[in-house]
Amino acid sequence: MTVTEEAGLQHSTDGAGRRRFLARSFSLLGAACLSRESSAAAWSLLADTKACNQEIDVDIGDIEPGARLDVDWCGFPVSIIHRTEAMLASLETLEPGLLDPQSAAPQQPDTCRNRSRSIVPQYGVYVGICTYLTCYLTYTPAKPEWKGLWPADFTGFYCACHGSRYDLAGRVLQGVPSKLNLVVPPHRYVSDRVIHIGPGTAEA
Ligand code: FES
Repeated sequence: MTVTEEAGLQHSTDGAGRRRFLARSFSLLGAACLSRESSAAAWSLLADTKACNQEIDVDIGDIEPGARLDVDWCGFPVSIIHRTEAMLASLETLEPGLLDPQSAAPQQPDTCRNRSRSIVPQYGVYVGICTYLTCYLTYTPAKPEWKGLWPADFTGFYCACHGSRYDLAGRVLQGVPSKLNLVVPPHRYVSDRVIHIGPGTAEA
């Protein structure tokens, strides 16, 4: 596994997943929009992920606290974040500035309809595509103009196309173009260190 620093958060990839992922890399294509042209793209994105029938197992055991692993699932970039206790605490702190903090919209399996939008709070699994016009997302530290909405030392998902922002549970902030949280793909835990992503999951 290789680990690099990207915008204040560690970024981890390995093996075949890395080779496939390079074609759709966040870092290489961070500001590039996909070919979708309306806000209806958000619902189309959700439908596309629900139509995905690829099944993959991902070893998450080597993701260091605070780091993430990016994998390709059906051509979608999926980020698996190993959240620290401080990151988990930030999820509650940010809630007054979020649009859908309780995950009312059906952007996740029922198993992930909670504050951390995950089965295991320490590990978040999110499709890294903006729910506004489906640009690829990057991680970015907070910017001065976000003061009051985003802690100074906080890193989250950022869309360079029109400025949408999401916390580390993929929950969208108020006052940005996007109105929906990030999609959580269907997944389940095979063991303490392996998750299975795909529709053939009992828990999704
Ligand atoms: S696609 Fe424009 S804000 Fe994300």
